Amino acid sequence: MPEQSQPDFPADFRWGAATSSYQIEGAVREDGRGESIWDRFTAAPRTVEDDSTGAVACDHYHRYAEDVELMRWLGLNAYRFSIAWPRVLPQGKGEVNPAGLDFYERLVDALLEAGITPFATLYHWDLPQALQEKGGWSNRDTAYAFVEYADATLRRLGDRVAHWITHNEPWVAAFLGHYFGLHAPGWRDLNATLQVTHHMLLSHGLAVPLIHEAAGQVGIAPNLVPGHAASEDPADIAAARRHDGYTNRWFLDPLAGRGYPQDMWEYYGAVVPRIEPGDMETIAAPIDFLGINYYNRRVAADNSQGKPPQVRTVEDAQRPRTLDREIYPRGLYEVLMRLQREYDFPAFYVTENGAAVPETIENETVRDPLRRQFLQDHLAQAAKSISEGAPLRGYFVWSLLDNFEWALGYTLRYGIMRVDYSTLARTPKDSAHWYRSFIAAQT
Ligand code: FCB
Repeated sequence: MPEQSQPDFPADFRWGAATSSYQIEGAVREDGRGESIWDRFTAAPRTVEDDSTGAVACDHYHRYAEDVELMRWLGLNAYRFSIAWPRVLPQGKGEVNPAGLDFYERLVDALLEAGITPFATLYHWDLPQALQEKGGWSNRDTAYAFVEYADATLRRLGDRVAHWITHNEPWVAAFLGHYFGLHAPGWRDLNATLQVTHHMLLSHGLAVPLIHEAAGQVGIAPNLVPGHAASEDPADIAAARRHDGYTNRWFLDPLAGRGYPQDMWEYYGAVVPRIEPGDMETIAAPIDFLGINYYNRRVAADNSQGKPPQVRTVEDAQRPRTLDREIYPRGLYEVLMRLQREYDFPAFYVTENGAAVPETIENETVRDPLRRQFLQDHLAQAAKSISEGAPLRGYFVWSLLDNFEWALGYTLRYGIMRVDYSTLARTPKDSAHWYRSFIAAQT
């Protein structure tokens, strides 16, 4: 896209940025917050690349007012954040901690005051440790505890927050957490992982009617990763199909009322999850929008010697990359058009899209040209999908701030605002200046 020509987005388009509680809040022991699985996981040696934790992170818990001012400066009209379950219910269920809800009430009021529409995510991976002691998401009871948590939160915020997201990237929470052992709680068990996916989806479906009644719109934000076969070889084509089944369709199909995809059900064989009568109907409760977290595609080759799903990612040094992934803007268009063609979700939001790139600091200026290009190219694909009929209603850049990047700690920076971790000062990067003028030109 040439520098000056800006794509056209609808006038009521939501321009946002996204964050999550454990990645930015810090204050993990304050005001009655209970322990989360990420506190426990990061306390263990060698779980996080730089041995760091989210104990302080961006100290957003204390600096939220300053951060809302940054959003106002950017010209955002929407902000996606997540609520820490252990602040609301320190033991996961039972006693509610009003001081935890007070924080989110302060944040939401500041957002509304600034004319910024809050999009609240209920689960962005910080499960109360007390529930993990009883098996966490592998235990069906956790789905019912989630409903208790959603209910307590909606009672306090339902009058002011009209947009809710139940789960962030259930694939990541389930598979990185329970199969690859890279995220909390660090398990490596495929059978448990699939049970976890089922309970997360079940908890989503149970919460949908509650949210409709108490607040407004509800959606879920899976990470969607287009799979491209590495070659014409039927084995690679089948591998790309397995990648799609295990990453994308395993979540989209049940949400769309189709049950788990038959090919994957057969592929998993003995390790498929236990399902109770009525579960699939619960999961298929109609939602108002689908959130899409898009970062990259996967070029897939068969790996019959490997563990399920027996897919090998083919990397090619010739393709453009950020610090941690291939850059493939067209994939966003592919995802949106595929959803439009094959499913019937009423609306879409890009709930996450962004990049960790090389940055340099010159005087007070943070140069991050690759991020700016990344955002510009992905927005162009978003605009193209709208012009071809995709009901895309908003875009949230990941992330407002540099923050705690899970197993990679503070080694990667995804923010459009730089955070100096020694002073916690925030500085808009060049990409933030660019996003600001881009939004201004659209609104
Ligand atoms: C997504 C997560 C988000 C952040 C980005 C970089 O998978 O939802 O919390 O870590 O990746």
